[in-house]
Formats: sequence, structure tokens, C-alpha cells
Amino acid sequence: MRKNFEDTLVTPLPVLMIGTYDEEENANVMNIAWGGQCGPKHIALNIGITPEGKKTLKNIKVKNEFTVSYATKDTVEISDYFGLFSGNVVDKIEESGVSVKKAENVDAPIIEEYPLTAECKALEIVENEIGEIHIIGEVINITADESILDDEGNVSVDKLQPIIYDSIGKTYRVVGEVVGTAFEDGLKVRK
Ligand SMILES: Cc1cc2nc3c(=O)[nH]c(=O)nc-3n(C[C@H](O)[C@H](O)[C@H](O)COP(=O)(O)O)c2cc1C
Repeated sequence: MRKNFEDTLVTPLPVLMIGTYDEEENANVMNIAWGGQCGPKHIALNIGITPEGKKTLKNIKVKNEFTVSYATKDTVEISDYFGLFSGNVVDKIEESGVSVKKAENVDAPIIEEYPLTAECKALEIVENEIGEIHIIGEVINITADESILDDEGNVSVDKLQPIIYDSIGKTYRVVGEVVGTAFEDGLKVRK
């Protein structure tokens, strides 16, 4: 027996932190779980509807650029905070106490507490049939703190400890153990 769910997509989601500047160069960060990589160099974001509108969307429309950082086990509280309050009503940078510097390649902030950040240019901002906004960003550069690099200088998922969002349990979970090798394990099935 299988059960159908008409309006809930049950998936583990990435927890993305979107960094933007407004016209006065004030930094803001927003938590987005409905998003992710949608091509070799592209990231998609889904901005939902609120009466006053999201500060992040306004900022992206002004600057056309943003950063995407991956929330980690060490940043659970601030990452959730960035999804609970709007930059329209509170200065989230000041209240959270995070450290901000300008990205080298885009006009958007890097939040130092997040060790892995993609610098993105908005290619498309499209409204869907229910008024939500889909943004496609092109990744111009990825910047990683050396604390998450392995001995070969590559980003180590084990060191990064990214978290995912479980939209059913409303919990964050750390990405776990290695259970297979991509493009290889499937070969064992072939007769
Ligand atoms: C776990 C989690 C995931 C979220 N995912 C999204 C999302 O994908 N899209 C969205 O529009 N809002 C999402 N939100 C809500 C926004 O982060 C929230 O509305 C935030 O206040 C917007 O900030 P801003 O107005 O400063 O841009 C999420 C919040 C949480 C806690």
C-alpha cells in the first residue's frame, strides 16, 4: 500500500542563507529551504508571499546580486533566526552579531560564520502562477574557509557539516555518513 500526498512535497531540503545588500549597503540574510542547485553553475530560489514582501527580494531587485551560504551544524540557531524575522522590521546582522564583509565578485555580503559561500548574479526573476517568485542565479565564484578543506584542498562535506531541513518534522539534521559511491555503485546492478 502507498499513500498519496497532494500538496506536500516530502523531501530533505538544503538550508540556504541568502545574503544581500539594500540601496544603503545594509546587509541582510534570509533562510531559504525551497531552493538549490539547478545546473552546473546555477542556483534556484523560491521566494514566498508575505503581505509586506521579503527584504531579500527587494534587495535582489536593487542589486541583481546575492550570496548563497550553506547552513551548518554550528550555525543552526542563527540560521533559523534568519528565517524567523524579516530585515524589513529588524536589523538581523546587528541582533545576531555575525561578522560581514563584502564579497569580492558581487555586490553582496559574505557572512563569516558560514564557511562555504557562492557568489551569484541574478539571471531571471520570474513570478509563478500563485505569485511566488523564482530566481535563477549564476554562480560567479565559490569561496570556502580553509577550515573546511581536506588535505587535497577540496571542500570536505565532513568538515563543513551542512544541515538539511525536514519539512515534515520541522527539524534540521546534519548531513550524515557516506553510504555509496556515485557513478560506481550502480555498475554492480548491471548483468
Ligand atoms: C527553515 C526555513 C525555511 C524557509 N524557506 C523559505 C523559502 O524557501 N522561501 C521563502 O520565501 N521563505 C522561506 N523562509 C521564510 C523566510 O526566511 C522569512 O520570511 C524571512 O523573514 C525573510 O527574510 P527577509 O524579509 O529579511 O528577506 C524559511 C524560513 C525557515 C525557518
